[in-house]
Amino acid sequence: MRVTLKIQRFNPDVDATPHDVTYQVDAEPSDRVLDLLNRIKWYQDGTLTYRRSCGQGICGSDAMQINGRNRLACKVLVKNVHQPIVIKPLPAFRVVKDLVVDLEPFFAHFREMMPYLINDERPPETERLQSPDERARYDDTTKCILCAACTSSCPPFWANRRFIGPQALVTAHRFLFDSRDRARRERLEILNRRFGAWGCRDVGNCTDACPRGIQIQDAIDQCKREIVLAMSE
Ligand code: SF4
Ligand code: FES
Repeated sequence: MRVTLKIQRFNPDVDATPHDVTYQVDAEPSDRVLDLLNRIKWYQDGTLTYRRSCGQGICGSDAMQINGRNRLACKVLVKNVHQPIVIKPLPAFRVVKDLVVDLEPFFAHFREMMPYLINDERPPETERLQSPDERARYDDTTKCILCAACTSSCPPFWANRRFIGPQALVTAHRFLFDSRDRARRERLEILNRRFGAWGCRDVGNCTDACPRGIQIQDAIDQCKREIVLAMSE
């Protein structure tokens, strides 16, 4: 099949504004959008710029807007999208070039949530044990691959980039409900700040956008409940 793609291009060195460029490529229905981008870059236009690495939905580097939705290009099959396939960079972040955006504000919010286990107690001789139920408590939020599709689709984040956004709240959940972690109070204080968990307005775009199927809205609700519980302790 012959596929038409309309891709937003922008090179800040030469362009005043972004503009669309149309490409046509031969494809199999089972090809992924990433395969088409690679075909364009390798055989038609080497200047097309985008991120990708694993090609398997694991590294999170090729999140972009495909036909109006934030998706991983390596997980979208050509046969499942309408033509022309309209591709734009992730919204809400500064465009560095073409489909590459500056994710530093996203990672700054991720780091704000202290994305590591905190436990100053003397470690046991082997590992810190955890029951299957304790592990299951935060299993869903361990699946995050930091693709930014959620935060980029979040209207409260569009309105205020200081809001930590859904991914940082997923990170908060992952450590808050880990029975080995000892920084509950500090984590809840961060979440309870002005631009913390209460910035979430329950829009739900984040859950729709997540390529890992993480129930982000549920995780955020659980974080909010923990803040309220801690305030009444
Ligand atoms: Fe991507 Fe989902 Fe992680 Fe958000 S929660 S960064 S959408 S994997
Ligand atoms: Fe790694 Fe798509 S290229 S997630």
